[in-house]
Amino acid sequence: MSTGHSHSAVSPVVPLVIGHRGSCGYRPENTLVSFALAVELGADFVEMDVVPTADGTLVVRHDGELSRTTDVQSRPEFANRRRTATVDGRELTGWFTEDFTVAEIRTLRAVERHAGVRRHSARYDGQPVPTFAETLAWLARLADDAGRPIGVYVEPKHPTYYRSIGLAPERPLIADLRAAGRAHRESPTFVQSFEVDSLHRVAELADVRRVQLMDAWGAPADRPSTPYAQMVTPAGLREIAAYAVGIGPDRGMVLNADGSPTPLVEDAHAAGLFVHPYTFRDENAFLAAANRRGDDPSARGDGVAECEAYLRAGVDGVFTDFVDSAIAARSAWLREKRVAAV
Ligand code: G3P
Ligand code: CA
Repeated sequence: MSTGHSHSAVSPVVPLVIGHRGSCGYRPENTLVSFALAVELGADFVEMDVVPTADGTLVVRHDGELSRTTDVQSRPEFANRRRTATVDGRELTGWFTEDFTVAEIRTLRAVERHAGVRRHSARYDGQPVPTFAETLAWLARLADDAGRPIGVYVEPKHPTYYRSIGLAPERPLIADLRAAGRAHRESPTFVQSFEVDSLHRVAELADVRRVQLMDAWGAPADRPSTPYAQMVTPAGLREIAAYAVGIGPDRGMVLNADGSPTPLVEDAHAAGLFVHPYTFRDENAFLAAANRRGDDPSARGDGVAECEAYLRAGVDGVFTDFVDSAIAARSAWLREKRVAAV
């Protein structure tokens, strides 16, 4: 299977389609049904975020605070768990995974985060919150059924915060990957993080491939004096190449608002890093003006054309909420390349 190493030691490949939190434009994010749909629609990799429970089990959630993506607010038995916490300098009030055992979290039900916009997806509310181990087992079964490998692209969220409360995620992460036969370099598995030291900790535990995520502003929570703006310079990218195989930038760091490319793809490739920008979403609100259709920010625009523009800019993969759109964009891009080659 292709792993996106088109500019490093591995042979040239087509760009990867990475199903973001599954295919969360169509199903509540980070649920087994969302992962299944991503695979059905043709994703090469499935992306997921993990956070720890009180008893140290990794569960698949983007937010450690549970109220936007589960029914916890409507559960009287957990009403007294509501509190305020400061995560990476941000004060949040709600219900936090670290205050629940995995058994308790299993009683919650996942709900669509953008219920007003993604109304079709909200029809699939009611799924359990999966553990990471369960998700890996599920993906193995999906891969068997599909007759092809399915990559895992996992992001332990807020490692510094969880380390500060005695729930560092790296060991359980590697333990789960190891149990699934994925904690090695040849596996179609990437561990991604916005933090730097967490990726180093992962490297100490297993030779699994690592990807440095980057935000358009600010700095890693564990390196506040090294802003992302510094990490994207040619020198910064060379430093990243010492411990990661690729970068996952905010897509605004790849193309400017007017559609012109920034130097990032070229500079990253020169450093031997692949580039997987996030996140492609088909709703008008997330699209360049030329790709919007109508005035409703919640309506679908031309997410295929949006994605194609980034493929033309040379990215090696895309994180997408709409796997089918990225697959269509990649097909169009491949056709265009073939024509150009004739
Ligand atoms: O992991 C890639 C992308 O998902 C990073 O942003 O906030 O969606 O986890 P976020
Ligand atoms: Ca993520």
